Amino acid sequence: MPTRETRLLPADDAGIAEGGRVLRAGGLVAFPTETVYGLGANALDARAVEGIFRAKGRPAEDPAIVHLARAADLEQVARVVPPSARRLAEACWPGPLTLVLPKRPAVPANVTAGLDTVGVRVPAHPVAHALIVAAGVPIAAPSANLFGRPSPTSAEHVLEDLRGRIDVVLDGGPTQVGVESTIVDLSGPEPRLLRPGGVPVEAVEAVLGAALLPPPGRSATGSPQVAPGLLDTHYAPRTPLVLVVGDPDAARVALREEVAAALSEGRRVGALLLADDEGLLPAGVVLGRVGRYDAPDESAARLFQALRSLDRRGLDVLFARELADPHAGLGRALADRLRRAAARRIQAAR
Ligand code: TXA
Ligand code: MG
Repeated sequence: MPTRETRLLPADDAGIAEGGRVLRAGGLVAFPTETVYGLGANALDARAVEGIFRAKGRPAEDPAIVHLARAADLEQVARVVPPSARRLAEACWPGPLTLVLPKRPAVPANVTAGLDTVGVRVPAHPVAHALIVAAGVPIAAPSANLFGRPSPTSAEHVLEDLRGRIDVVLDGGPTQVGVESTIVDLSGPEPRLLRPGGVPVEAVEAVLGAALLPPPGRSATGSPQVAPGLLDTHYAPRTPLVLVVGDPDAARVALREEVAAALSEGRRVGALLLADDEGLLPAGVVLGRVGRYDAPDESAARLFQALRSLDRRGLDVLFARELADPHAGLGRALADRLRRAAARRIQAAR
């Protein structure tokens, strides 16, 4: 693809004002949100949005999320805003929750991959908020990574993937949450979870007073993807990752055994390491440290950074065990991202 100069700007008033100008002129600006960095374009300009897909190498059937400065702007992009959406917006915005709603015709078809619904969220990061205000238009933004790579949680990650492909990166430092937004589809008769993320599913269900339907299965090839990462390689490091699942104590044992076996075969080995597992693995393993098993927010903030740094080390194989309870809170999002990153899964025997 044709290369262009990518400017790295500090996310101060001048940088944000320039980002707003570039967006209004149809350009591409990567910016921090509280979850991950997004790659933004004017959501009402089909040609600008086309640029996002080209820069990322993203398939046209993967819809982008539209970012608003405030919930009061919802009607600009959503045709119907049911009471459930108002309640969730009230409770969770600004924040890491995306609502899928019937879309207005003003939103170009390529934003939503031809679907008649649009994913919308109001990000909590002050730079994201200020940039949307400066642009004066809704901003379509998928995560600012090359398609299939782990999402970027710093400006360096964005440059690693997209230097020469986009106009501006606003550097607002590392992101806080570290995993993408929770996506809830409110366009059907019953609310459905499309992706676990930064807002715990339990919190959404408490506001709705009802359980969410589970994410749908894999869609037929070629049809719009209603949930991200149904492709097995989504979020994947280039180095194959082996994920050990099952009872936590059994998984610790299996992780140590698998790592030792790979080392004894002369392979160069890396591992995601929970704080709980300090000292568990043999010497010679390259470690990507995350947080404590009982504090999934710590590991969420570090997961993509750890995967990317392990991926740069020229290793043969990476190992990890589940980073938190996969059935509760942020642990669901961690389990989801790890499963999608993994080339292979091993069930630990009790
Ligand atoms: O936290 C986040 O959500 C980040 C930041 C930048 O906001 N964005 C993000 O975008 O993760 P992305 O493009 O990597 O993931 C968006 C996913 C799509 O893969 C798609 O499956 C889903 O959101 N999505 C968007 N619009 C949709 C729609 N109308 N119907 C169903 N799913 C939709
Ligand atoms: Mg993404």
